[in-house]
Amino acid sequence: MFIAPTQNSLDYIQRKSEKRVVRLLDTTLRDGEQMPGISLTSQQKLEIALALNDLGVDSIEAGFPITSRGEFEAVKRIAKEIRGSEVIALARANKQDIDKVIEAEVPAVHTFIATSELHMKYKLKLSPEQVVEKAVSAVEYAKSHGLVVEFSAEDATRSNLQFLSRVFQAVVNAGADRIDIADTVGVAYPSYIAFITTYIRSSVKGNYLLSVHCHNDFGMAVANSVTAIENGADQAHVTVLGVGERAGNAALEEVATALAFLYGYKVKIDFSKINKVAKLVSSYFGIQIPPNKAIVGANAFSHESGIHVHGILSYPLTYEPLDPSIVGAERRIVIGKHSGRHAIEYVIKQLGLEPREEAIKNILNKVKDLADQGIKITWELILKLVKEEYGDVNN
Ligand code: KIV
Ligand code: ZN
Repeated sequence: MFIAPTQNSLDYIQRKSEKRVVRLLDTTLRDGEQMPGISLTSQQKLEIALALNDLGVDSIEAGFPITSRGEFEAVKRIAKEIRGSEVIALARANKQDIDKVIEAEVPAVHTFIATSELHMKYKLKLSPEQVVEKAVSAVEYAKSHGLVVEFSAEDATRSNLQFLSRVFQAVVNAGADRIDIADTVGVAYPSYIAFITTYIRSSVKGNYLLSVHCHNDFGMAVANSVTAIENGADQAHVTVLGVGERAGNAALEEVATALAFLYGYKVKIDFSKINKVAKLVSSYFGIQIPPNKAIVGANAFSHESGIHVHGILSYPLTYEPLDPSIVGAERRIVIGKHSGRHAIEYVIKQLGLEPREEAIKNILNKVKDLADQGIKITWELILKLVKEEYGDVNN
């Protein structure tokens, strides 16, 4: 059962005054698609890109063109069709990968190389000097082809900070437009992200935007992303529903809503479209949205307990942090074991009937008895109980 929004809730959130504009780079179609077992068709990728463009994210990471022919074609198609959001594509810090981005006619490249000792030694088998050289050459090459360049330091949060700063400074000097601190295995926590963001911001000189890319291995991705923004980052990498490798990435809907409505940053998206985009991604990725998922879960704005429903029916902000309509969701009153008389009275009124005390009591008792037996209280069942009291009802 749905209740229409009654008023704007923003005045009741303890948010700070409006701050600077922050950017969102959505990587649902690249890091999100790296989620185990997921492979989108070119058409699905395009539809998600169009929805993200409609939502208004600043940047859409369309994919990793060197991965396969299909991926290359999909990225090329997205770059051709999207107008509004920047389209960017991934490339390792080498010429072949960057050439694929250029060939796909994508205007921006996201190039990366690992900077932690762990990755340099065991994966890349390169010395720190060679890593700096490869990073700089990749950025110079991409810039010489007129691309916007975002450079990520993979595993930045497990890197030596002086070395990380050195790599970032070198790529900024080579022309990188944006540098990104990647928490590749999600080991950062808010106070560390605050520290590393502040350190990089103050030690790397020049004209660049600072970004963060947070994974969710310890469930910290959203908290880390917003903390980085609070500490001077300009952009957060996000994915719809937090899809991505292992435990996924920072969830767009949570990062964006927290930044805008808790912290008071300007986030240039149309919040009313967030639920629609989440449903599209859920369907194409073949994953259910958990009912208790913040902002987009079915229960995010649902209420059952008697005390809460009473509050909601009197004044919705008593038990909601913001009006559901802001994020394109609907408020739901659920009838069940925890219901109180106000919910039943509300149902009766909604059906155009006079709420009689005796009828309310009888229906509520039956609901509780049935729920105690483990029976799910569906709308059909409620109608049946109302009919038992009132005879036939129009619904
Ligand atoms: O998690 C990661 O390090 C990445 C990089 C490509 C930025 O996804
Ligand atoms: Zn990642």
